[in-house]
Amino acid sequence: FAARQISQSVFGAVQRRTFSATASNATKVAVLGAAGGIGQPLSLLLKLNPRVTELALYDIKGAPGVAADISHINTKSTVKGYEPSGAGIKECLTGAEIVLIPAGVPRKPGMTRDDLFNTNASIVRDLAKAAADACPEANILVIANPVNSTVPITAEVFKSKGVYNPKRLFGVTTLDVVRASRFISQLKSTDPATENITVVGGHSGATIVPLLSQAGYTLEGAERDEYIKRVQFGGDEVVQAKGGAGSATLSMAMAGARFAESLLKAAQGQSGVVEPTYVDSPLYKDQGVTYFASQVELGPNGVEKIHPVGKVSEFEQGLLDVCLKDLKSNIEKGEKWVKENM
Ligand code: NAD
Ligand code: LMR
Repeated sequence: FAARQISQSVFGAVQRRTFSATASNATKVAVLGAAGGIGQPLSLLLKLNPRVTELALYDIKGAPGVAADISHINTKSTVKGYEPSGAGIKECLTGAEIVLIPAGVPRKPGMTRDDLFNTNASIVRDLAKAAADACPEANILVIANPVNSTVPITAEVFKSKGVYNPKRLFGVTTLDVVRASRFISQLKSTDPATENITVVGGHSGATIVPLLSQAGYTLEGAERDEYIKRVQFGGDEVVQAKGGAGSATLSMAMAGARFAESLLKAAQGQSGVVEPTYVDSPLYKDQGVTYFASQVELGPNGVEKIHPVGKVSEFEQGLLDVCLKDLKSNIEKGEKWVKENM
């Protein structure tokens, strides 16, 4: 079936309202870590997106195979796979408007996202260096965990090369919103496609703060606690179920493709495109929290407007207080590490 139909239907409410696809702009999108659990379905969804004209897939191994496979799909975009040898990452990144980074190891049962720090920090640092050199003006979408720390790491790399633009760096937290919306629809028997629960903070455990009150919902007692826990630890649910074979890949691919689609729509002139995302944010800078996820209006220059958190209940304020404490230390950890290991 038609690619356009898919991109209209899979991403949910935000896309559904205003989608009008044109592929008039030449748009190169690069995926780093393209042969992985997220990378493959994410690349597939991007191949189905008529806004993408060129797809550049990089991995330390396997990307040419993924590219050859995906390139047979009968949509117009061109696809090329890159490995460290040969043309490599530089050619992959040159001219990219969007760079998605799902490269890095996933969790196993019993691990926190922070347990991935030691391995993934250097992977993200090196990929950020390559992007800062080859496509300093691209939108960089960090998926690799721990997002709360890998985004500050990426920012410091770009700063060190004198090309940091806070409007172009995004931690992808879309999956938290997808989960929060799906889980409330299960409780309330509503259509999940029409739910759009705001989730703020960061992307791990207590830093994930769903703001149900803003959607007009009030849950109480055990029902509320279970809902909050499920949103905050939805990732663990998948890690447990996969029993050592990794973490969320398919739902994450959908969430990453949705975020990329929103950026492309905004870049191609659509106004009013709002997605939650973890960005360099003024909202809690006075408390030393320099990155924060909230609703962000996207535009041709990336971040157009960072929306404030807005009205929250007393209970949600309690969640926010815990979130800010954890976030601050996750951010500081990333910044300290990258300064010592640049
Ligand atoms: P995976 O192991 O299946 O795939 C990772 C891929 O990265 C592999 O193909 C590997 O070869 C590649 N890779 C490793 N080092 C690389 C490098 N230096 N350059 C290029 N490619 C490299 O893992 P996955 O399930 O796809 O998860 C990837 C990351 O995404 C993990 O860190 C995971 O925790 C994270 N994740 C984030 C979210 C989110 O909401 N932001 C959701 C799910 C997973
Ligand atoms: C998720 O939320 O599913 C990802 O961050 C992967 C994980 O480790 O839980």
